[in-house]
Amino acid sequence: MQDLVFATNNSHKLEEIRRIVGEGFNILSLKDINCNDEIPETADNLEGNALMKARYVKEHYGYDCFADDTGLMVDALDGAPGVYSARYAGPGHDSEANMRLLLKNLEGVVDRNARFETVIALILNGETVIFRGQVEGEILLEPQGVDGFGYDPVFKPSVSPVSFACMSQDEKNAISHRGAATGLLIRYLESHLL
Ligand code: IMP
Repeated sequence: MQDLVFATNNSHKLEEIRRIVGEGFNILSLKDINCNDEIPETADNLEGNALMKARYVKEHYGYDCFADDTGLMVDALDGAPGVYSARYAGPGHDSEANMRLLLKNLEGVVDRNARFETVIALILNGETVIFRGQVEGEILLEPQGVDGFGYDPVFKPSVSPVSFACMSQDEKNAISHRGAATGLLIRYLESHLL
């Protein structure tokens, strides 16, 4: 089996990928390769950050690797919070505060169109490949549902009558930005088994 690092310590994301990839690749986390570094994520776009993280692991630890970055782009806010989605309300990762600020900035705004985008950068066998997934939707007037994470309670995909936070993991994966990008990655990996 070929070792492949997923540049994350998010156990949920790891488990999901491991379940889908199956036998072909041995998916390692940052912890598995003893990487405790604060990997820089200083690009001003999702692709730049995903590439930065994947290249960092390849250069410093020698492993083939993939890394992801996700953002929520709101049309009426000129694409904000975008690449800064995790720290929209300031440093730290307080989803409640991020959501509150988003709703405040959209008070009285009629155009509530938004999209989630995930970019995955893969470095494998000397090649660098980018995969993208998007889901269109709108920002609700108030939070709805209790499942999921991040901005899920205020994001309603266009193809759904309810927010992401009202869906099971499988229902969300089937239509989500991350599900789409991950699907493309998996297909690529399956066709590049050594
Ligand atoms: P990351 O790049 O996956 O860490 O995502 C960056 C930030 O975007 C997270 O901290 C969340 O605030 C937000 N985010 C990413 N994916 C989702 C999602 O599927 N639902 C809601 N919020 C998300």
